[in-house]
Formats: sequence, C-alpha cells, structure tokens
Amino acid sequence: MASSTTSASFSMAVLTSACVWVLIGASASAQLSFDYYTRSCPVLFPTVRLTVGAAIAREAQMGASLLRLFFHDCFVNGCDGSILLDDTPTFTGEKNAAPNVHLVQGFEVVDQVKSAVEGVCPGIISCADLLAIIARDSVVILGGPWWPVKLGRRDARSASQAAANESIPPPTSDLKKLISSFQNVGLNIRDLVAFAGNFSVINLA
Ligand SMILES: *[C@@H]1O[C@H](CO)[C@@H](O)[C@H](O)[C@H]1NC(C)=O
Repeated sequence: MASSTTSASFSMAVLTSACVWVLIGASASAQLSFDYYTRSCPVLFPTVRLTVGAAIAREAQMGASLLRLFFHDCFVNGCDGSILLDDTPTFTGEKNAAPNVHLVQGFEVVDQVKSAVEGVCPGIISCADLLAIIARDSVVILGGPWWPVKLGRRDARSASQAAANESIPPPTSDLKKLISSFQNVGLNIRDLVAFAGNFSVINLA
C-alpha cells in the first residue's frame, strides 16, 4: 500500500523531539516478553524508575497523569506510542483529539525518561515500551501494586485523530458504554474501577 509508506516516512519527522522512532526486531509477529531488553539494556528499569520518581517527587499528581497517558495511548489502535506524535501542518495526530487536548499531561516527563534511557542505551528502547514501564512505575511509586511489564512494542509510524475521538470514552459516557469500551480492549470492570479511581485523583487535585 503506497499510502502507508508515505505516512511512515513523514511521521518520522513529527515524533516528539526526544522520542525517536526505534525499529525493534525483524519479525512482524514478534511476541512481547519480560526479558526483551535484559541483555541490550540491563539498566533500563532503574533508569526509568529514577526519572519517574523524580517527576512524582516534584508533583505527586503526575503519577496519575502518566497512567492516564498510557491508557489514552492504548485505547487508540493499541499501546504503540502514537499519542506522542506531534501535529504538523500536514499531519494531525492524537495529541489534540477531543479526549486528549488539555487532559493528557506528562509529555515532558516521557521526554525526560526517553532522554535518560537514550543516555544509557541509545537507539534501543521503543517509546511505546517506555510508556508501559512509566505507567507501572507511577502506580508503584504512589503506593499501588507492582506488575511485571512485557516489552517489545514497536512505535507507531502514524496516528489517527478520528480513532482517538472515537475510541477513548468521554466523561459523559454512561456505565454501559464505559464497560463496553473497556471490554473492547480486554479490560474488565475491576480494571475500569481502578482507572476511574486514578482519574478522580487527577480531577480532584
Ligand atoms: C475530533 O474531535 C474534535 C473536537 O470535537 C474535532 O474538532 C476534530 O475535527 C475531530 N477530528 C476528527 C479527525 O474527526
């Protein structure tokens, strides 16, 4: 498909300054794994944790914002970092979609984490994977549960504002709509309640 080639090449230029597109693996069917970067970047986890910890120490609410950032990325065509793509005159991405604009915060922390990780393991870690680790670390640092994060995601080379408008449930959704939009991405009612609790932290702060 010619159009996908075009969008792949121009979106390289619209990635946020610090977030460089990283091509991971050769096979399109590569599986995620817990030890994806164990050999190539053994200091990945402590590096992310330190930077996220510093950001949350400056502003506790940032932890909740970073979890939301990951959720808003994942609800639109999967956890592919597409929310990080900046708009340009010729490209409209997800950042300014109705459910994201003014609501999704923490991009500067993602940039700080990316830059810290690039300092120790240049050109290896995808931004999509960083968002997954950042979200987990945010929850842990704020006293929530720890979970192992599978890694090996590829970064998006395009993004869809229409899909973002469509896929992220607006605050006006009723319970039925919320349950079904979470179910669409494999999340259950327990997950929905956990996310809702997180977002009320943001909204109350
Ligand atoms: C997404 O929603 C916003 C706000 O309603 C609207 O301005 C924008 O045109 C929509 N984008 C697309 C691609 O439908």
